[in-house]
Amino acid sequence: MPRPPVVRLERVSLEFEGKRALTEVSWRVREGESWAMVGANGAGKTSLISIINGYRWPTTGKVEILGRRFGEADLRELRTHVGLVSAYLEDWIPPSEKVVDLVVSGRFGATRVWKPLTREERAEARSHLRLLGCEEHIDKTISQLSQGERQRVLIARALMSEAKLLVLDEPCEGLDLGARESFLDGLSRVAAQRKRALVYVTHRMDEIPAGFSHALLLKEGMVLAAGTIGKTLTSANLSRCFGLAVRLQRFDGRYYAILGGRGAQPKRTNAL
Ligand SMILES: Nc1ncnc2c1ncn2[C@@H]1O[C@H](COP(=O)(O)OP(=O)(O)O)[C@@H](O)[C@H]1O
Ligand SMILES: [Mg+2]
Repeated sequence: MPRPPVVRLERVSLEFEGKRALTEVSWRVREGESWAMVGANGAGKTSLISIINGYRWPTTGKVEILGRRFGEADLRELRTHVGLVSAYLEDWIPPSEKVVDLVVSGRFGATRVWKPLTREERAEARSHLRLLGCEEHIDKTISQLSQGERQRVLIARALMSEAKLLVLDEPCEGLDLGARESFLDGLSRVAAQRKRALVYVTHRMDEIPAGFSHALLLKEGMVLAAGTIGKTLTSANLSRCFGLAVRLQRFDGRYYAILGGRGAQPKRTNAL
């Protein structure tokens, strides 16, 4: 029997005080797929991932994570299979925490490990940090790291867990160019492993890591297009998604949006 999808949404809608944030969203994410979720501000991206994370309940529709239906499975247990990384998460990490301890804590679903680390735990933490290009920080404290380094450490922490799905909500917010590129490189390597499904939320095309396999375009709470990235992330779809004439260029596996339709002089690069 084929394994169930990591995420299966069937006609999921979400209302806030009578206002629709999501309308009949159906979506499947399978093992090892890496999805870019794209949409303008207010399109419903954060609402959608908060449902996947088990932090919100849909108003109508069906949600299954790893083959288990929300409502039947214990939400807390399901959450241990979903790793979340966002620019705001780091607020609750104690600054004096050591990097290696924080990474290993991912295995236990806690922010602190209250016991000496085993050699095996330390070696595994080191290998995840190496994948993300921050092995040299293993014995530093969180307070000694830049924001971009912290973001990469948080991904290493998620890799230490059993999470089959890693969700990243606009993780490049506030990162400068160098930090962002190091972060995206690390994420490309995680995607290439295909061990976990990734859902990466952004409204900027140049922040989609190279090698991502799929894209979901959201507009006003509805799915405008979803599927393999080459077929979905097109100039025509993006123009509809953002309500602007956009030309999408692909270079070295990455995407760049240029304002102005085909044949128009580019007005501004990387505006989206
Ligand atoms: N807690 C909330 N209460 C009321 N409305 C909300 C709440 N969170 C989000 N919304 C509304 O839901 C819609 C989608 O928001 P959101 O999912 O945050 O979009 P995105 O992440 O794509 O910017 C917006 O219209 C937003 O104003
Ligand atoms: Mg959001």
